Amino acid sequence: MTALDAITVDVESLTQPTDLRGLFSQPGPIELEIGCGKGTFLLRQAKAHPDRNFLGIEWANKIYLYAADRMARWGLKNVRVMRADAKHFVIHRLEADSLDALHIYHPDPWPKKRHHRRRLIQPDFIAAAIRALKPGARLAIQTDHAEYFEQIREVTGSFPQLQKTDWADENYGIVGEDIKTNFEIKYEREGRDFHRLAFRCEKRAD
Ligand SMILES: C[S@@+](CC[C@H](N)C(=O)[O-])C[C@H]1O[C@@H](n2cnc3c(N)ncnc32)[C@H](O)[C@@H]1O
Repeated sequence: MTALDAITVDVESLTQPTDLRGLFSQPGPIELEIGCGKGTFLLRQAKAHPDRNFLGIEWANKIYLYAADRMARWGLKNVRVMRADAKHFVIHRLEADSLDALHIYHPDPWPKKRHHRRRLIQPDFIAAAIRALKPGARLAIQTDHAEYFEQIREVTGSFPQLQKTDWADENYGIVGEDIKTNFEIKYEREGRDFHRLAFRCEKRAD
């Protein structure tokens, strides 16, 4: 098996519903990043937390291939990347109570009004994300787009299971306000403001 084969996941090969534990060679918490781009956040986290497992999902093929190549070169055992539509995957494939953290950093803002329906953060997606998160798990969302942030705030605010929590959380390697994705680094240089929300997912037994 090549290093690239060990890192990449073929969505079509996965069982339904998908139990992510089968993707990793060690037990331990599982964190998912949606739209992982070139994988900067994921790699940094995976290196800093060898006891945790990290999966990135990226839709754009060129970026996915770049991230996969980079991850393979780093030689980490606890990181995987998959090319898929993460929205479809979370809603239709992911097993309930499978994630310890869900990271969504700089989701595409689709600024034109007629494109808003393409945005990731919509009620159906958040409902599915809550189902996929374990009780007590973390959901963290960061954007530089003020108007999209208002929508994110409104949608997440309509789910009582999502209890706001501190952005900084050393348990998840988030120190201060620093998460350092590629877009964060780029936008920081441009002097853009960031908008952030972090939640603890509270699930009651039915
Ligand atoms: C603005 S970029 C941010 C990348 C990275 N999170 C960062 O902060 O540097 C958004 C990324 O999400 C990916 N993306 C958008 N919709 C997606 C989807 N439904 N499933 C997986 N990836 C998606 C895009 O291809 C793009 O790489």
